[in-house]
Amino acid sequence: MIFIVDFGSQTTHLISRRIKDLCLDAKVIYPEDVLSEIKKEMPDGIILSGGPLSVYQKGAPDIDGKIFFLNIPILGICYGFQLMAKMLGGKVVSGKKEYGPTELRIHNSEFRISSRLPNKFTVWMSHGDEIIKIPKGFEIIGSTETVPFAFVADREKKIFGVQFHPEVEHTEYGSQILTNFIKVCDKNLKSKILNLKSIADNKSNLIGNIKQTIKQTVNDSYVVGAVSGGVDSTVAGILASDAIKDHFIPIYVDNGLMRDSTKEHVEKIFKDHKVRPLIIDVKKEMLRRLKRIIDPEEKRKIIGNFYIEIFEKEMDKLIKSGKDVKFLLQGTIYSDVIESQGSRHASKIKSHHNVGGLPKNMKLKLIEPLRHYYKDEVRRIGKTLGLPDEFIYKQPFPGPGYAIRIRGEVTKDRLGKERQADNIVLEELESSGILKDVFLSFPVLTGAFSTAVKGDGRFFGEVIALRIVESKDVMTSKWAELPHSLLQKISSRIVNEVPGVSRVVYDITTKPPATMEWE
Ligand code: XMP
Repeated sequence: MIFIVDFGSQTTHLISRRIKDLCLDAKVIYPEDVLSEIKKEMPDGIILSGGPLSVYQKGAPDIDGKIFFLNIPILGICYGFQLMAKMLGGKVVSGKKEYGPTELRIHNSEFRISSRLPNKFTVWMSHGDEIIKIPKGFEIIGSTETVPFAFVADREKKIFGVQFHPEVEHTEYGSQILTNFIKVCDKNLKSKILNLKSIADNKSNLIGNIKQTIKQTVNDSYVVGAVSGGVDSTVAGILASDAIKDHFIPIYVDNGLMRDSTKEHVEKIFKDHKVRPLIIDVKKEMLRRLKRIIDPEEKRKIIGNFYIEIFEKEMDKLIKSGKDVKFLLQGTIYSDVIESQGSRHASKIKSHHNVGGLPKNMKLKLIEPLRHYYKDEVRRIGKTLGLPDEFIYKQPFPGPGYAIRIRGEVTKDRLGKERQADNIVLEELESSGILKDVFLSFPVLTGAFSTAVKGDGRFFGEVIALRIVESKDVMTSKWAELPHSLLQKISSRIVNEVPGVSRVVYDITTKPPATMEWE
């Protein structure tokens, strides 16, 4: 058992997933509970997560220093490392800020924690503070150009620190470092391996367990489901309809903010599973409600509240027809939860409308069967359920749709331009055979204006930014390194075909720091 102490990092849950993928059990606990949890169960190792605050900031989460003297191997990541360094006599200051990829050089590979690592590789950082002095007893394993203490170890105490994030998909050899740490922790690795089979069995029964939970929660009542045509809500919907048959009623809200043909797509996919979704057309009203709204969080709240209003109206109609509707099923996944402040010390990044954007006094109770899973896990569940590949690997599309890809006010005219540019990007990626390799692609109407010369006259039009990224689990992403000729083709088509556009720019920012969506 590995304890993961949660200082509010966006990736705490991801660390526990990585540990579970290595077939060990992991438990996420709050720093204030660490000693009482240790009293209940002695862990084999402890990982201290990252966090959004500075260790010297007022109210920054702390931990009881006794844990460093209990002879339990400890790995501190980012904030966890800085806190550990500060508590053991090192020094942390507000220093060089670094977000995204950087090169780590290994100076010392004789430690178990640094075995099987090459001399240099890419790691991902996300920090605003810097350790300028490491505590006595620590040795340097690796550094980057700007961070001398990027990877350190206290050999005797078996305490390790990394300034980068080994848990994120884009850190090379991240899982090797976590595996090495597990090997340091695990005195009884052999007996633990005997548990592998039962854990694997458990995984294969995952779908059965989810369906069973839905059945038990719902009992004899009815569930309405918000289906958007995306992988998450479709997988959640198919699980529900398999579990409770016609007691699940999928609803597609046609609000005009989705990609072309989404409605037809939803109808087809559910028809294949012998379910007919209710389609509610609110295109005009949606635009009316978004009039003059420019704040992204407000857009999300308005769209979220409108959804609930529609669902409650449908619920009342269904109740009148004799169906006892009590629940709303949503395809929320873990990355939505964490960005909408999923744990005590975490920061709120944005209110994903299906998590933070819902009204407090909702009549329907929520069911979110995929809340603890990541995108790649949901795709695997979808595959097991028999959903076609072209659907499973379809790009995710955010609940608030085009509204959060249009900076500033969403009008019918701007929506048309965004849709037209989006179709151009999709067509060009498809015809060059690259569409399947990117996680997300979209244009952003930036609300910024620039000068162009069209024909022989001056033209002052809107700038479109292209965001095309690669990712698996949504927590980190890289911008796609597309062929220049393809970028040129997309740019030319957009400035020529979409009215009012003067210029196209390519967004070359990693996540972190930039989120995938602009809003
Ligand atoms: P970010 O921009 O947070 O995007 O890096 C991560 C993933 O989440 C999607 N996204 C949303 N999905 N409601 C949603 O249902 C939202 O408000 C929302 N905001 C972002 C985004 O498209 C990407 O897949």
